Amino acid sequence: MERENRIDSVHWLIINGEKRIATVNLFPGVQVYNEKLIVKEDIEYRLWDPFRSKLAASIIKGLKTLPFQEGSKVLYLGASTGTTASHISDILGENGVIFCVEISPRVARDLLDKCVKYRKNMIPIIEDARKYGNYYSLFGNIDVVYCDIAQPDQTDIAISNCKHFLKKGGDLLLVIKSRSINVIKKPSQVFKEEEKKLRRAGFKVKQIIPLDPFDKDHILIHTMFV
Ligand SMILES: C[S@@+](CC[C@H](N)C(=O)[O-])C[C@H]1O[C@@H](n2cnc3c(N)ncnc32)[C@H](O)[C@@H]1O
Repeated sequence: MERENRIDSVHWLIINGEKRIATVNLFPGVQVYNEKLIVKEDIEYRLWDPFRSKLAASIIKGLKTLPFQEGSKVLYLGASTGTTASHISDILGENGVIFCVEISPRVARDLLDKCVKYRKNMIPIIEDARKYGNYYSLFGNIDVVYCDIAQPDQTDIAISNCKHFLKKGGDLLLVIKSRSINVIKKPSQVFKEEEKKLRRAGFKVKQIIPLDPFDKDHILIHTMFV
């Protein structure tokens, strides 16, 4: 087993000669999206698929730091069925919490069945992320907001959620899919405009990561709320 110290909570395993990333399974024996479970030295790891998770893709593409760790509080917008959110849940451990906002009740049913049922640190919020005043189960200050909702107004939604819940000096990880915002403009132009919105709203850009070849015309922007 190889382990890069770059991000402590993310483990690099060699599987069939290939370097793969993984998190330690918070609920051993249970898969979330049919991911491979690997046991080494009595620890069970869940392989983290960069073709299924944009956060995994950004780690492989060189994300320098993960802004959350054991015990952090994360607000996740667009949790879907919990693919990425469950790996964040692994990292946060039993003392952390991840509030999972998902607009679609149908999608959220899988989130409940595959994640929330087993993982006590995942709190579902079935709501439109534009209506953050209705997050009745959210408590305390948030350390990190993660946003992946593929909507034309996603940057504005992320900004308003941060202004409401994110602590000063907290981080926002925002996934931008250019085609969700504008299909005609060049992706590079769309990315520039969204970055400008973030800077104007008081975010300091730490890193911008293109997610190809895992996700074409997507970037992840890592910012800090100052
Ligand atoms: C690209 S998928 C997210 C994939 C997920 N982040 C992952 O990596 O596992 C986008 C999700 O955002 C949800 N969504 C879209 N608009 C939303 C909104 N306004 N509020 C909350 N969730 C929304 C969709 O229903 C969908 O499940």
